[in-house]
Amino acid sequence: MRDVAIVGVGLTKFGERWEAGLKELMSEAWLSAMEDANISRDDVDMLFAGTMASGRFTGQEHVAALIADQLGFSNVPAVRVENACASGGTALRQGYITVASGIHDIVVVGGVEKMTDVTSAEASTALGGAGDQEWELFQGITFPGLYAMMAKRHMHDFGTTEEQMAAVSVKNHENATKNPYAQFRKKMTISDIMESKMVADPLKLLDCSPLSDGAAALVLAPLEIARKLNDTPIKILASTHATDTLRLAERETLTGVKAARIAGEAAFRHAKLTPKDINVAEVHDCFTIAEIMAMEDLGFYKKGEAAKAIAAGETALNSKLSVITSGGLKGCGHPVGATGVKQAVEITWQLRGEAKDRQVTKADIGLTHNVGGSGSTAVVHIFGRTN
Ligand code: COA
Repeated sequence: MRDVAIVGVGLTKFGERWEAGLKELMSEAWLSAMEDANISRDDVDMLFAGTMASGRFTGQEHVAALIADQLGFSNVPAVRVENACASGGTALRQGYITVASGIHDIVVVGGVEKMTDVTSAEASTALGGAGDQEWELFQGITFPGLYAMMAKRHMHDFGTTEEQMAAVSVKNHENATKNPYAQFRKKMTISDIMESKMVADPLKLLDCSPLSDGAAALVLAPLEIARKLNDTPIKILASTHATDTLRLAERETLTGVKAARIAGEAAFRHAKLTPKDINVAEVHDCFTIAEIMAMEDLGFYKKGEAAKAIAAGETALNSKLSVITSGGLKGCGHPVGATGVKQAVEITWQLRGEAKDRQVTKADIGLTHNVGGSGSTAVVHIFGRTN
């Protein structure tokens, strides 16, 4: 296996991008990643494109070939990756495996989703497909509903409060004010969150990630080639992936995501690191309770202790551990297929020292955690500086 590095990153602004179609969003992200990597289209050996439900949201399938066509790549292999909200993280892992194995050298990995051209109800139905269609969606449950049940159980077992969940949202919206790519750049207070409309008790509008349009892209290369292309290649130290039951009802626990725990433990083992070594992390905050569970699943906190710590400011920008400097799914937005790739873009900027107003002072090791469905898929990556 070869060492693999990120040599280029690209991102579009997230939000309601009514002026841009799927093709424009993809081109914007892919072209800036290639420019950042100092490569031309003739250098690209393969591409992976993560998208969860482009057909449901825009009518467009066959997205990987579409990107290859749109960008004028000459007949390269192009593969779409779908793993619900973890499509982007999974696409990154496929790219990593392809380069590490020696099959291809320069691989572009992207993610895209355009969710705002349909009504919220249609979007909700499309997103519901990430759960068990027969046992969950058909019975009327939505994604906020599934995570609301996890939140209720966490509150019951550990005394987690709605105010502590609101503190997650306040932190992420605060970081989003410093990110020019973010959908929402407005500070929020605990009372803003607490007084926002109820979506699925106890989760309110401002506990939920929004519906978003956006795309993100990364260029991967073997480390020895990466060093020639770029002064600051970011090495992928671990890339892990685990799954669990699709149905929430059949999980071992409702207060955590076992797949994330397994993928997280494997990632630390492969990288020969521990949670204490991480300086900056982008975890999957699709709902505020999801970030609390992620921090426990990944071993940053013991079970039942993350909510209090986050509310006390331990994971704010430049505190003990900077978590979700981009503003996350909550504040930066959640175009589902793009999210896992965008997390890696943010960590790359942090480790290169290019995150501007939201730069973490000491950023040597970063982590991303991307979840699909209510926890049926989890993908974890750990990244490190090479200089
Ligand atoms: N966070 C912050 N603001 C939000 C928001 C969110 N999650 N969702 C909507 N808004 C804002 C909108 O921009 C809009 O503001 P405006 O009036 O200034 O334009 C306002 O709140 C009302 O938006 P609206 O579109 O009417 O909301 P909605 O009720 O149709 O949808 C949710 C709200 C929470 C149901 C929807 O965002 C949602 O389904 N989120 C979860 C997405 C999801 O499940 N993703 C997968 C996770 S696993």
